[in-house]
Amino acid sequence: MPTCLWACNGVLAHVWLVRASRYGEILKTHILGCPCVMLASPEAARFVLVTQAHLFKPTYPRSKERMIGPSALFFHQGDYHLRLRKLVQGPLGPDALRALVPDVEAAVCSTLASWDGNVASTFHAMKRLSFDVGIVTIFGGRLDERRKAELRQNYSIVEKGYNSFPNGFPGTLYYKAIQARRRLHGVLSDIMRERRARGEPGSDLLGCLMQSRAGDDGALLTDGQIADNVIGVLFAAQDTTASVLTWIVKYLHDHPKLLEAVRTEQAAIRTANDGGRLPLTWAQTRSMALTHRVILESLRMASIISFTFREAVADVEYKGFLIPKGWKVMPLFRNIHHNPDYFQDPQKFDPSRFKVSPRPNTFMPFGNGVHACPGNELAKLEMLVLIHHLVTGYRCGAPPHRFAIYSLLVLVDQSSRWAPAAATPLDPSSQLPDSAYTYSYCYMLHAPVRIDRAINLWGHSLLRWHNT
Ligand code: HEM
Repeated sequence: MPTCLWACNGVLAHVWLVRASRYGEILKTHILGCPCVMLASPEAARFVLVTQAHLFKPTYPRSKERMIGPSALFFHQGDYHLRLRKLVQGPLGPDALRALVPDVEAAVCSTLASWDGNVASTFHAMKRLSFDVGIVTIFGGRLDERRKAELRQNYSIVEKGYNSFPNGFPGTLYYKAIQARRRLHGVLSDIMRERRARGEPGSDLLGCLMQSRAGDDGALLTDGQIADNVIGVLFAAQDTTASVLTWIVKYLHDHPKLLEAVRTEQAAIRTANDGGRLPLTWAQTRSMALTHRVILESLRMASIISFTFREAVADVEYKGFLIPKGWKVMPLFRNIHHNPDYFQDPQKFDPSRFKVSPRPNTFMPFGNGVHACPGNELAKLEMLVLIHHLVTGYRCGAPPHRFAIYSLLVLVDQSSRWAPAAATPLDPSSQLPDSAYTYSYCYMLHAPVRIDRAINLWGHSLLRWHNT
């Protein structure tokens, strides 16, 4: 899920929630001069994304396509999209994920260890974690550190320019990002060349893309198509997962009783694993019922992908409304997730609501239909493993509440320090320096839609984690 969509989600969703409550579940508006139909009902979302998906194609600004790579699967529909999807789904499916648990756990432990005694921001740390997990999924843990550093460095430049004004003058963020994108392409081509020279494409995501043959002539994907899709998957995986993880930290902090219950669930697993000396297993990650519900409720509350865009490829009629060819269509996930008809008391963070499955098409944090997120199980696995190690190895103390001012679209970096359970206990009587407080910060853009929640985020509380 490209971040342009992701980044403008919260603010627009707030505006549209207000409009939808005033004008109903289907309404027409203009965005930057483009006529656009917004759909806030589960039936309408299903119509666009599932039953009549062939009548609506994905649509993104040209500059974003250029930045990620025009051959990335989420820009396409039809045969090419289906082919790519099958390829990507394999390495993200249950069998592959089962084998990935040790790598995800290693990435989580290394992230937590790097917080020990260091200044870090929660969101940036989570981004690093999601990037590492993305790399392991794509390259199967076979990437040497030099290559990984090259990818990380260039990718971060691409990211910085991604939402900038598409101005190709040298020195601009956009220009730098396009240059970095070229270098990324070069690094990926080198990796593919090395694999071919060794005669080992591999069974990871990159290997699957390299070996895929299509059509009667058995044509392979070109290196350009493969690079676009590798960069696309990294894009789709990183900020999304990191954002939800940051929200989870905040929600757990805000609900101490729930945090205790989650800790109890996870402590039992840790005890069964000889106090954490044995690795987590796939079966154990499947048995974390309460933690899983916390993740689902965080996905619902935060609704970090608040909506998606499609474009009608023909005149389409829906319930007596005409959607002319070329118009944009937007299923509004957040509005559905926050509609009291489907989720009672929707502003309340209540994981127990997921003891019962939501009604069909009312819960779509990962989208729906042909373009639904193929990385959803990987994202959940990463969250489960992170929560396991965080709550069993670290404790969130009574917060000395502190406040930080956000400005729209600007991320505020705050200091934080994470103390591991196994380290020398902190002296509770000593005055901890400012950097000893972990600050879970979130994009203002992702503020839940009610004003009181938004205000809450302007004065977001600090967390303190220390030894258990
Ligand atoms: C909590 C984390 C995540 C959330 C909330 C999320 C959400 C979504 C959503 C809503 C879509 C559908 C967009 C649309 O219909 O226009 C999507 C698509 C996609 N996601 Fe995710 N995603 C997450 C994590 C990941 C991860 C970890 C990966 C890969 C490793 C991934 C890869 C993709 C890809 C490749 C697509 C495009 C699929 C297609 O067009 O067929 N996502 N994601």
